[in-house]
Formats: sequence, C-alpha cells, structure tokens
Amino acid sequence: MSGTGDDEEEPRRRRRSGPVTKGGDARASKQLRTRVKTARGRKHSSQLWLNRQLNDPYVAKARQEGYRSRAAYKLTELDDKFGLIRPGMRVADLGAAPGGWAQVALKRGASHVAGVDLLEMAPIPGAILLQMDFTDPDAPAALKRALGGPADLVLSDLAPWTTGHKATDHLRIVALVEAAAYFAMDVLKPGGGFVAKVFQGGASQDVLDALKSRFEKVRHYKPPASRSESAETFLIAQGFRG
Ligand SMILES: C[S@@+](CC[C@H](N)C(=O)[O-])C[C@H]1O[C@@H](n2cnc3c(N)ncnc32)[C@H](O)[C@@H]1O
Repeated sequence: MSGTGDDEEEPRRRRRSGPVTKGGDARASKQLRTRVKTARGRKHSSQLWLNRQLNDPYVAKARQEGYRSRAAYKLTELDDKFGLIRPGMRVADLGAAPGGWAQVALKRGASHVAGVDLLEMAPIPGAILLQMDFTDPDAPAALKRALGGPADLVLSDLAPWTTGHKATDHLRIVALVEAAAYFAMDVLKPGGGFVAKVFQGGASQDVLDALKSRFEKVRHYKPPASRSESAETFLIAQGFRG
C-alpha cells in the first residue's frame, strides 16, 4: 500500500481519532507558515505533506473549532451550497474516520448519525460508529441496524488505500463509489440526498445513469476546502425518487 486515494491527507502520519484539544489551538496558530526543519529520515512526500499541514488554514481552523479533520469544512461548504442537512435527519456516514463529517452533521441538526470506517474512531455523542469494511457483505445490514430506519442523507467520503498501480487503484475507487451509491439507493427515503467523494474518472457511467434516473438532480462540485491539487471532487444527488 502506498497511500489512500485521498491525496488530501498523508495516511501514515495522520491522527485518526480523538477530539482535538484546546491546547492544540495556540500551537496550531503559531505553526502557521512554519517550515519543517527536521527532515532527516522523512520521505520527501511526507515532508511536503507536513509542510502543507502546518501552513493550511483549514487545519488550524479545525483545531480551533474542535473538528477532528479539515475534511469537516468540505461538508460544511457542500451543505452551505446545496442545503443538505436539516434538523432531525438520519444520516449515514461512509468512511467516517476520524469523524469530522459526523461532527458537522450533528452540529447542523442531524438527530442520528451511523458511521462506518476501517479505522477505529473515538465516540461521538449522537453517532453510532462501526469499525468495519464497508465492502464486507455484512456492512450494509449492520449500517441499516445502526441507522434504525430509512436515511435522509447518505454521505460518502470513502477514500480507498491505493497500490500505486493505476488500473487497480481506479477499479478500487470506482467500486467504492458504486457500493456507496447502491447502498444510498437502498436506504434513502423519498426526497433523500446522497453525497460522494469521487476522483477523476471515479464514477462509472452506469452508476451515474442509475443516479440520474433515481434522483431529481445530480451535480458535481469541488468545494473550496478541497485542495486544488487534489483530484477529488464531490457528486451531489438530491431528491431521491424512491
Ligand atoms: C478522507 S477519510 C474520511 C474523513 C472523514 N469524512 C472526516 O471528516 O473525518 C476517508 C476514510 O475512508 C476510509 N475507508 C476507505 N476504504 C474503506 C472501506 N472499504 N470501508 C470503510 N472505510 C473505508 C478510510 O479508512 C478513511 O478513514
């Protein structure tokens, strides 16, 4: 494995769980425009990632506002633009760790979040967080039990581990988007919404066609918090027809 499909984050160094403490806030702002001095033993890519993290205003903001990931701002911006989250919603969160999206969904009024990730997550009040592989045949049923009823919104920020072998990685990305889309079409109530991270060429035409026939609107959008050098963008499907 050489990394995740999410080139926004450096996988081996990122902290996966645990609330961000206030003690980290002052440190974070002081670290703005910091250069990494002790590069010895670090791979060039890791050093670049660390430099970027230390100088990223979204990383500092996440620490200040108590979000577990800078990814929280991607959902915030998507919600501001598309009006996805409403009070009382039941939300599925696929690829949830460390929990930034779940925090945003709950803060914006969701009454219940059911999340799944390969990685362990620290608890979040109001969320049921499952540590399992979403592609495991048992995962959809486990998530449905955790949801406790039809979902209003299915969110997928799933980013598969990549091998460095382009064709294999592409297949993995397409497979995850497809699994997330079919799960959404299985659990959503009429009127519901689906948001998925996709990478360039990441959703197959078949999936797009299925989404377009089952949702009133299907759009793509790259929020400002998504780094311009990242190949990711987001697919937003609204108005599930049932
Ligand atoms: C970009 S991160 C999600 C960040 C999260 N939305 C947040 O705001 O904190 C992508 C996540 O997808 C998870 N993931 C990748 N493949 C998975 C799979 N097959 N099943 C479950 N989780 C998976 C990774 O472990 C990783 O934590």
